[in-house]
Amino acid sequence: MPDTRDRDLRSFIDRVDALGALRKVAGAHPVHEIGAITEVAAGKPNAPALLFSDIAGCDPRFRIFTNATTTPQRAALALGIDPMLPPLAALKAWMQRRQTLKRLPPVNVPDGACLQTIVAEDDVDLGRYPVPVWHKADGGPYIGSGSIVVMRDPDDGWINASIYRVQVHNRSQVTVQFDHTGRHGAIIAKKYWDRGRSCPVAIVNGPDPSLFVAGFEYLPEGYSEYDFAGAIRGAPLETIAAPLTGLPVPGSSEMILEGDLLPMTQQTLPEGPFGEFTGYYAADTRPGPVMNVRGICHRDDCILFGSPPMKPPRFHFGLPLRAAGLWEALATAGITDVVGAWQHVSQLMTVIAIRQRYGGHAKRAGLMAAANSYMARLVVVVDDDIDPSNLADVMWAVTTRSEPAETIDIVRDAWSSALDPRIPPDRKAAGVTSHSKLIIDACKPFAWRDDFPTSTALSADEAARIEAKWGAVIA
Ligand SMILES: Cc1cc2nc3c(=O)[nH]c(=O)nc-3n(C[C@H](O)[C@H](O)[C@H](O)COP(=O)(O)O)c2cc1C
Repeated sequence: MPDTRDRDLRSFIDRVDALGALRKVAGAHPVHEIGAITEVAAGKPNAPALLFSDIAGCDPRFRIFTNATTTPQRAALALGIDPMLPPLAALKAWMQRRQTLKRLPPVNVPDGACLQTIVAEDDVDLGRYPVPVWHKADGGPYIGSGSIVVMRDPDDGWINASIYRVQVHNRSQVTVQFDHTGRHGAIIAKKYWDRGRSCPVAIVNGPDPSLFVAGFEYLPEGYSEYDFAGAIRGAPLETIAAPLTGLPVPGSSEMILEGDLLPMTQQTLPEGPFGEFTGYYAADTRPGPVMNVRGICHRDDCILFGSPPMKPPRFHFGLPLRAAGLWEALATAGITDVVGAWQHVSQLMTVIAIRQRYGGHAKRAGLMAAANSYMARLVVVVDDDIDPSNLADVMWAVTTRSEPAETIDIVRDAWSSALDPRIPPDRKAAGVTSHSKLIIDACKPFAWRDDFPTSTALSADEAARIEAKWGAVIA
């Protein structure tokens, strides 16, 4: 197993470079151009990671890193999994490893590279940094498109460190966007506000990528993302007390913003719109909670981290982590012989692969997967000879093994979200966040599966043997 201890973003970038997956881009403009280059690169088959330097009109000491984990290979690297594993094997390895992970709380250390430059309150000016306007119709520049918002629960002191987007509004004010009031960050902020206080916040930009992964895991209340990131690394995060708020922040991060999130009764600013991961602007501009930035610290030659949402299939993370959760949930529910799970189209389509054992097995898996697939309108169940991570293979099964008149079902009023672009405006205004889901059973019909025409294609093992013997000749 490879070394799992990426100590910081820079060592991760070095490892990406060593894999040949980094491209350096000089001279791009932060308004629309960096976002556009990021999107075009993410759409290429190798979807390279990008390091932007000499950003037009900006202080040359600052760079921006994007497309960090957009491929299965780099996602595996961030998880401490062998980056050479094929995608489905990497997801399975993560699933197995995740089950054995133990919380590893951070350790406090006295100093960190993020303290190299400290900007006092009077000198705070967010306009000094290269903050991209990522998409063409965004409401403004976003300094946080994959940064970690750190807050301490005022009751029992636990630290929440999750990803919420952060829009810059002026020299010293940003908004933090909670998709809904159930986000842990929103719950913690409300506790302060209900007591008539502002909520102390630190925004961490460019930490060790394990914290990026932890920052969007659904962890239970009280389980700090810091502990989960430590578990992924196999070594605790090293945190320092942020100079102003005293909140623990990873000392090797690139930049920390500190300040207070004001009660929404005191001030709000119009947040958004911001291009979403569905590839649309489907949520309106809303009043967002305002953070007064009262201090900034950063590395002298800071690399800001950018992870803007993009039109599918481009996605923040090259392995569909939620598919691993689904796979586990199916097993826990007693559905046997699930051999694979994957999500395509930025998680808007779920595929489950099974070794059919009885009539109704595929439907059972499909219904269970549909119930638990967030925002996915399309659920496909395939046989075990189909690689669910290979969309062409999946569509071959759909077009040759399913019979629309017999093997398609629609489930109504199922789990979606306010970001769903296809919920009609009047229903969205009424608070509807559900949609219907199509379940396609693309398995060979169970009753006559043994008589189903034989495939002409090589099995995966046969193809691998040919690859091993002749791969270099036909490369
Ligand atoms: C790149 C990226 C950006 C995200 N942006 C937001 C956001 O702006 N608002 C939000 O509520 N969730 C956002 N999320 C999802 C949350 O980070 C995720 O659901 C997380 O588990 C929420 O943590 P919590 O349960 O501690 O609130 C984003 C996720 C990623 C990967």
